[in-house]
Amino acid sequence: MEDRKAVLEVKNIKKHFGGVQALRGVDFQLFEKETVALMGDNGAGKSTLVKCISGVYIPDEGDIFIHGEKANIRNPSDARKEGIETVYQDLSLAGQMDLISNMFLGREITKINLGVMKILDRRAMEVKTRKALESIGVSTVQTLKTETRNLSGGQRQALALSRAVSFGVKILILDEPTAAMGIKESRRIIDLILKLKEHEIPMILISHSVPIVFEVSDRIVIMRQGQIAGELTTAKANHEDIVSLMVGVGKGIGGE
Ligand SMILES: Nc1ncnc2c1ncn2[C@@H]1O[C@H](COP(=O)(O)OP(=O)(O)O)[C@@H](O)[C@H]1O
Ligand SMILES: [Mg+2]
Repeated sequence: MEDRKAVLEVKNIKKHFGGVQALRGVDFQLFEKETVALMGDNGAGKSTLVKCISGVYIPDEGDIFIHGEKANIRNPSDARKEGIETVYQDLSLAGQMDLISNMFLGREITKINLGVMKILDRRAMEVKTRKALESIGVSTVQTLKTETRNLSGGQRQALALSRAVSFGVKILILDEPTAAMGIKESRRIIDLILKLKEHEIPMILISHSVPIVFEVSDRIVIMRQGQIAGELTTAKANHEDIVSLMVGVGKGIGGE
């Protein structure tokens, strides 16, 4: 285990909002090919931690390393340049745009680009969108010209995930991807996550669902009150271990 390479390392991250200390010195690592489930009670600091990694928040203190090199992430676009793609529950997809436009939002393929005037290569973008969706096993979307707002929550997630894989993402972060979904849609998303695992993309998955965490993760990191409460190897963990770390009575392999 020791010679595993960390693709992401977070050291002593602190973040406060007014009087609330949301993160109190968090150390966290994500290794190659690994899916880490990030768990913890509401308010534990999970979303704040991933938002620091994805450039939504700038930490008050602490450093982030990508492949061992210190990263200077000041905004979401910096994070994306580092290969970090984050899929939030409330997806940042534009509802009135069609699938292709959303796929390439901010990364359009152009035939002619004169800076002020661009001519988009719709054909090339369509081919790439279809390929991306197929590569993660999505072939149910009838037409790529569908407006995104007509998609179900699951299909939107699928689009966001395929967007993530098709741009050579190095680290994928999913913040409660199945939270607002029914059983069928959740199942599709879990299958997509398993597909992404086959692609060996390192992932951080925030989820409250113990069954989902057991199915997809390799390691479980539990947060409590802005700190890492402990971690568990999924294959050796059980439900009670997770709960006791969440409420503060248990010891994980990395816990104090
Ligand atoms: N933008 C914000 N402004 C003020 N307080 C916030 C903000 N974001 C998070 N918090 C607070 O920080 C703490 C951690 O929140 P969060 O990271 O969302 O937890 P989790 O995702 O584990 O439920 C909570 O006390 C929350 O109320
Ligand atoms: Mg959250």
